Amino acid sequence: MENKIAFVTGGTSGIGKEIVLRLLDKGCYVITCYNNNEKNANELRNISNDKLIVKKCDVSNEQEVKLIIDFIKETYGHLDYLINNAGTFIDSYIKEFDIEDFKKVININFIGKVICSKLSYPIMKEKGAIVNISSSLGITPCEESAAYCASAAAIINFTKASALEFSDKLIRVNSICPSFTPTPLALRGWTKEEIEEKIKNTPLKRLNTVEDTANLCLFLLSEEASFISGENISINGARLK
Ligand SMILES: NC(=O)c1ccc[n+]([C@@H]2O[C@H](COP(=O)([O-])OP(=O)(O)OC[C@H]3O[C@@H](n4cnc5c(N)ncnc54)[C@H](OP(=O)(O)O)[C@@H]3O)[C@@H](O)[C@H]2O)c1
Repeated sequence: MENKIAFVTGGTSGIGKEIVLRLLDKGCYVITCYNNNEKNANELRNISNDKLIVKKCDVSNEQEVKLIIDFIKETYGHLDYLINNAGTFIDSYIKEFDIEDFKKVININFIGKVICSKLSYPIMKEKGAIVNISSSLGITPCEESAAYCASAAAIINFTKASALEFSDKLIRVNSICPSFTPTPLALRGWTKEEIEEKIKNTPLKRLNTVEDTANLCLFLLSEEASFISGENISINGARLK
């Protein structure tokens, strides 16, 4: 992985940040983006690794993504890895969902991955790799989160379609469905008791961690996964629902 060029969306917090740090450890050049949180972005910038670039860019805005892709092309000439990780969460019952909020979740979590994939493809090298971060809720939905669950389900199918289409450049595309992982996105609104209940209901008796998902992501990007494409892999401690 040494000196490969990676674009990780939403790399200033949670799962994305762990993926960024792990790719830097492997010697990759990493370009990442965020949407709002300047404090998190500056914390990441402060690790002062000259192979890391952190930019503000809303993945659901095609013009903003185009600027980053143009920057990657001008600076590095190409891209090896795309990690479509950025995501948001707005919960509401369908009966009460503000349709603008529903569209916002679909636009960031799903259309954002479509935009980044479409615009990255032309500058991706042959035998590059894409990992799309979906969610266990894309397989088994829960109540009060229909927009998030629907976006996660769409990502799984989009991954398979991308794997077929991008195989013309031997680019592999896979998705990951992590279960509940304690990050700022997931922790909103859960009580300590509810989290303990989740652990109790997980056969392997713990929560997912950002390291679990980053490990799987790095494997899927690596040469060791060179015949794996179009797959969706769950990472959930055997919690099947
Ligand atoms: N945590 C879980 O339980 C869990 C489980 C399954 C799947 N996932 C998925 O894993 C991914 C990462 O989640 P996380 O838990 O690590 O969340 P997180 O800690 O809240 O981090 C989300 C990251 O995405 C960025 N982001 C949000 N909206 C964006 C946008 N429109 N454009 C660009 N960047 C944007 C955030 O930047 P700002 O902070 O600046 O907005 C932040 O860097 C998401 O796709 C999520 O659906 C999470």
